[in-house]
Amino acid sequence: MAAYIGTSQSRIDGVKKVTGAAKYAAEFNAPRLAHGSIVASTIAKGRITHIDTSGAKRVAGVIDVITHQNRPSMADNDQAYKDEVAPLGSPFRPLYNDKVAFNGQPLALVVAETSEIARAAASLVRVEYAEEPHVTDLFRQRDATIPVPPPTNPIEALFTPPKARGTPEQALAAAAVRHEGDYYVPIENHNPMELYAATAVYETDGKLTVYNKTQGVQNVQRYVCSVFGLKPENVRVMSPFMGGGFGSGLRPNFEVVLAVQAALALRRPVRVVLTRPQMYALGYRPAMIQRIAIGANTGGTLDAITHDAITVTSQNEEFFRQETGWSGLLYKSANAKYAHRLARLDRPTSCDMRCPSAATGVYALEAAMDELAVALKLDPLELRLRCYSDRDQNNDRPYSSKALRECYAQGAAAFGWERRNPEPRSMRDDGDLVGWGMATGVWDAMQMPITVRIALGANGHAEVACATSDIGTGTYTIMAQVAADMLGLPLENVSINLGDSTLPQSPVEGGSWIAASVSNGIATTARAICDDLLRLAKAMPSSPLANIAPDAVALVDGKLVSRQDATRAVAIADVMRHGGIDRIEQEKTTSPVPDEGRAHNTHSAVFAEVKVDEQLGVIRVTRVVSAIAAGRILNTKTAASQILGSVVWGIGMALQEETVIDHRFGRVMNANIAEYHVPVNADVHEIKVIFVDEPDDSNPLGVKGLGEIGIVGVAAAIANAVYHATGKRVRDLPITLDKVIGVA
Ligand code: MOS
Repeated sequence: MAAYIGTSQSRIDGVKKVTGAAKYAAEFNAPRLAHGSIVASTIAKGRITHIDTSGAKRVAGVIDVITHQNRPSMADNDQAYKDEVAPLGSPFRPLYNDKVAFNGQPLALVVAETSEIARAAASLVRVEYAEEPHVTDLFRQRDATIPVPPPTNPIEALFTPPKARGTPEQALAAAAVRHEGDYYVPIENHNPMELYAATAVYETDGKLTVYNKTQGVQNVQRYVCSVFGLKPENVRVMSPFMGGGFGSGLRPNFEVVLAVQAALALRRPVRVVLTRPQMYALGYRPAMIQRIAIGANTGGTLDAITHDAITVTSQNEEFFRQETGWSGLLYKSANAKYAHRLARLDRPTSCDMRCPSAATGVYALEAAMDELAVALKLDPLELRLRCYSDRDQNNDRPYSSKALRECYAQGAAAFGWERRNPEPRSMRDDGDLVGWGMATGVWDAMQMPITVRIALGANGHAEVACATSDIGTGTYTIMAQVAADMLGLPLENVSINLGDSTLPQSPVEGGSWIAASVSNGIATTARAICDDLLRLAKAMPSSPLANIAPDAVALVDGKLVSRQDATRAVAIADVMRHGGIDRIEQEKTTSPVPDEGRAHNTHSAVFAEVKVDEQLGVIRVTRVVSAIAAGRILNTKTAASQILGSVVWGIGMALQEETVIDHRFGRVMNANIAEYHVPVNADVHEIKVIFVDEPDDSNPLGVKGLGEIGIVGVAAAIANAVYHATGKRVRDLPITLDKVIGVA
């Protein structure tokens, strides 16, 4: 039954990727393909008073320049621009009118016979503006925030701070030991390797095939149809491969609008590829100021915890996730209170970035817990154990499973935590200060309705189809593993078809919910195929399966077999031959089983070692151990890759990543990967990933998903290690060397 599930399997798409056979959005070709290059605003707020495109149009090879004045017709209401994961508010409409809402906003698209001509000509477009005052500094808006709006549906409710409990103010005031602090996370930009791109192929019959980098082909398809008033059957969106999403491709981005505008206007195929600087005009992780107050008794249990957050959104939309509620969820405390407000800036709308809310909210919590441990003179791990909660206190319910204790135990053992000298600046290696820090991680385990189609042939090959994406997480591979096991086939006999809006329904790939959703979807559909085969098998003359119940058979090694008695079996090929068919096709929708009575979460314990050059303040993360509890692991190799990648990102979040804005112009100053620092090979040392056993019955396969949990806690573990090494507490990320220099 489980030949492949739970094993280490290389990606089934790996060869295609390393040989270049896997095609990305900017690599699809079409006859007469034209190329668009964006002209972006150089002001943060105002109106366009004049666009002079004459210079660009005179360049040989330029076909046209599309602006708000000559674009094709677009919807005039916000609802048409609301994609599947749009926040409240009025979504940005590319090239819609003369309004400028952020620096870097696309204002025109120069379309030419080659991308080089388009790009050169774009530099000749002259834009005149009527400028208006802008604000892009979170700290300037700190006193002009708005509360997060009340939820209007269950999804929004997920993002709204939980209800307070007890009497947190009184409990804080009465607590024997208190810690209070402000924690800052800057704007961070996703920097996936693949640039956002759309190749919009306009066919002679007016149909559009759009190859777009996206985490949700059906989300983009519906959006394009509603924005441009196109019939659903005339628009197909494809994204078979994606070079990294991390949340930046959950919503349709402006490149797809621009490519479709030009394709419709010119009635020919058009490709738009963003430049790396233009990627910084998309969504981003919102900057945030978080305030945590914890009151404890001297024994190391919590009396009260309060968590306030101010996060950044745009003027036109209200994007927020729920940073604060993790605090009273993770640790036992009778009193808890949360508050979340939004600061509007003249910037694009912020968006999801890997583990939105927990990566940031738990950073603040776990740094604060480390400070509390110091105040209590208690080992930071021991503090977590004393506050351990077996119940979700925000909603007063048990967990479907929570193996966090095992994460602490196995992570600490692998790291050698018991050898830690608690005194800051007490550990050294070859002149460097050595610091050991730890933190907890938590994320949601979610499942979404999804539809899967499977066609099983008499030749023992199966085709599995679903419109999900594989954003680089390994979805192709886990889908094939689950299908192979459920259908009793070798892995290589399963082919996976995804990333195409014409395939059966899938939500966007995000929130770590696709593994649980699609694997259980495949299991359901495979079961339906098994049932069909059994019906046919029973009709066979002297069938060995004549009186057997559907749940008493399974598909194993190309045969339909009794679970009790393996000698009672019929080959699939024989069943189909007798039934007069050569394939069976089934399409089933699988929804999560409602289970409001229990909380569903993944957890982690992260241990980090840093070495700090005492004179220069240079910090190296020399070791990380991440112990993860995420239910059943479908593929130990791709799963470990997810966690490794997350830990690397956590190193960047702790020490390097920061989008810097020149507030005079509201413009990103480091919109390139030379000056926006991310960890490179030399920054990444030993990382050990441990998956602890965590049986879970939330869904039949016990899968929780782990695309995001791996980043949670990493920045805090590193920040705590930096404190332990240096004795200096830095609460503002990233912890660059100027903040710790001269700690000697
Ligand atoms: Mo994820 S941040 O939901 O792609």
